Amino acid sequence: MYDEQTPQHIAIIMDGNGRWAQEKGMPRFLGHREGAKTVREITTSCARLGVKQLTLYAFSQENWQRPPREINFLMGLLRKFLVKERDIIMENNIQLTAIGRLHNLPKEIQKELTVTREMSSTNTGMTLCLALSYSGRKEITDAVKDIIDKAKRGEIDSDDVTEDLISEHLYQAHMPDPDLLIRTGGEMRVSNFLLWQLSYSELWVTSAFWPDFTEDDLKQAMKEFSSRQRRFGKVIPLNNNKQVVC
Ligand code: FPP
Repeated sequence: MYDEQTPQHIAIIMDGNGRWAQEKGMPRFLGHREGAKTVREITTSCARLGVKQLTLYAFSQENWQRPPREINFLMGLLRKFLVKERDIIMENNIQLTAIGRLHNLPKEIQKELTVTREMSSTNTGMTLCLALSYSGRKEITDAVKDIIDKAKRGEIDSDDVTEDLISEHLYQAHMPDPDLLIRTGGEMRVSNFLLWQLSYSELWVTSAFWPDFTEDDLKQAMKEFSSRQRRFGKVIPLNNNKQVVC
């Protein structure tokens, strides 16, 4: 199924659950419940379409500032997902991983996360990475702290500090950078998501709210990705001897 125009790694900012519900005169939490259904659909679609990794921004560090009832509801959804979707994860040969300050999650969620991660750890299909209690700035801060600790122990010195070394100290050491970042809900920002890894990702934003995001939307984003020219800052010669600089 995989070809070189398929984005290997798709990252998604799943935004608009609250607005989806409010537009329908419903409480915000019902938007999250619908959003959890979309998580299942889009995860299986990505696995089927040959995507190698899907990273979902499921709960940011900043989301801890939401009302306790909303946080509890989201944690409940997450727990259900980690338990109830185990069959779907295993049937689709998906490996589940997570990034973020996972120690901040309720113990019960940490336990279910460990079970699902271990159970799926030898699966060889798509990796589904959940960003939980995640902040891009905190990820970089935590990496810098680890590197300084190693330097203090004499294991590395300043000449060893390279982009590769920093990448190795991020939450998921060997995670490939996302090729494509999708954001639903229409906002034009990255909201502290994968700040290091998104440097050269292609961006695709839709005004559709996350509960309304469908496999067709996903395919449209992937189609547009396949027509983008990724230059990574280099100059690409044109046929008529002009050059493109990025
Ligand atoms: C943003 O919508 C979404 C979130 C803060 C949480 C995302 C959670 C889910 C999609 C469901 C649970 C996840 C899993 C993995 C089971 P928002 O509330 O900020 O929407 P708004 O911008 O319209 O207010």
